[in-house]
Amino acid sequence: MSELTFPAGFLWGGALAANQSEGGYLAGGKGLTTVDMIPHGPHRMPVKLGLEQRFTLREDEYYPSHQAIDFYHRYKEDIALMAEMGFSVFRTSIAWSRLYPNGDELQPNAEGIAFYRDVFRECKKHGIEPLVTLCHFDVPMHLVTEYGSWRNRKMIEFFARYARTCFEAFDGLVKYWLTFNEINILLHSPFSGAGLVFEADENPEQVKYQAAHHELVASALVTRIAHEVNPQNQVGCMLAGGNFYPWSSKPEDVWAALEKDRENLFFIDVQARGAYPSYSARVFREKGVKIEMAPEDTEILKNTVDFVSFSYYASRCASAEMNEQNSSAANVVKSLTNPHIKRSEWGWGIDPLGLRITMNMMYDRYQKPLFLVENGLGARDEINADGEIHDDYRISYLREHIHAMAQAIDDGIPVIGYTTWGCIDLVAASTGEMSKRYGFVYVDRDDHGQGSLNRMRKKSFWWYKKVIASNGRDL
Ligand code: BG6
Repeated sequence: MSELTFPAGFLWGGALAANQSEGGYLAGGKGLTTVDMIPHGPHRMPVKLGLEQRFTLREDEYYPSHQAIDFYHRYKEDIALMAEMGFSVFRTSIAWSRLYPNGDELQPNAEGIAFYRDVFRECKKHGIEPLVTLCHFDVPMHLVTEYGSWRNRKMIEFFARYARTCFEAFDGLVKYWLTFNEINILLHSPFSGAGLVFEADENPEQVKYQAAHHELVASALVTRIAHEVNPQNQVGCMLAGGNFYPWSSKPEDVWAALEKDRENLFFIDVQARGAYPSYSARVFREKGVKIEMAPEDTEILKNTVDFVSFSYYASRCASAEMNEQNSSAANVVKSLTNPHIKRSEWGWGIDPLGLRITMNMMYDRYQKPLFLVENGLGARDEINADGEIHDDYRISYLREHIHAMAQAIDDGIPVIGYTTWGCIDLVAASTGEMSKRYGFVYVDRDDHGQGSLNRMRKKSFWWYKKVIASNGRDL
């Protein structure tokens, strides 16, 4: 039993995303999205990074998103499992192209709306509050091929139409919304993050920051629309979080870490504070970036979010000498390997205190409630002779991080809730693997699309159920 407590009404649950769980990639009139073009195997990284253009599917590739874990057909069973654990919140995303298959239609696809209405009703039936991301790594492909995705200002209009449809169609069912998942990932993984593909002669920084501007204006605009449609709506931004530590106490290393933090925080600085941060003009100058803005943008950006959400897997580390050779992108964002923390099999750091540090920094900076909407350990699970999965490593990771979050709450930070990542095993975003598992529920499917897709409770399932029942006291 922990001495630390969680507030009454704290939301406990887990997270999935449409692009990694639903499958049904053309079902119900859905259009192709960016993630549907990203294969498993050697071409995965170049495509994700926007360095290799893939606008058509290939017969000889395996695309993990096409069937994923078939949440599209199994959501009732999956939501029942979440209810059995006692979830009070379930985070998922809406696939934009189920509602607008091409992205630029004027009217939505009724079948797509009906699907999500059923999903959210199923949640409500079990007393689970949906937390819904409007765009989680899945831009409709037609918007990429016809408009160049977020590099084009017209995306603001398309996204606003789609978002309004969601707020109106799911009014009364969904109250918590996130605009863009891990918005800062646009810098690190431009195609999967924002549908960007680069030409050889262009400055990628210019393209990325212009796209970022369009996303930031779109995010602020739909925050305003959400409040207009229903003043009860709560809208959050979403950061791929994790503070940078300086490699040493050398002032140059401390400065390098500050700069790396700002690179990521830039996005939510705008979303949470309503204007470009003071450091941005100098950064843009150094990168040769000139942002084209419309006269109304400054006013639109003032529509700030209600809360700040973030994912946290690990802290990061930077030095003045950091470069391509000595850093790694194990955790998507490039970092030096911190010798003081443990790592997962995939090289992702494990640093629970880093969560408390990150949360304190974010609350000091924004003074808005926080929502930890992704946290977890990607690990290989083995089914033992008795047909059970003893995932004690996952329990210990989550226990330590929940404890760190409780400490952050004890530091005075208001926290709305906690959704562990991949509460049911799903496709890994970075590698496309199924074998990198995060769930309390095992899904019988391998890295090549083989398996029954049957669900099975792991040891962590029973542990998390107990954590929720005790409102975080029994860790
Ligand atoms: C976050 C994403 O980056 O991390 C998720 O929002 C992703 O989509 C998660 O799945 C874990 O990363 P991975 O690569 O292990 O799936």
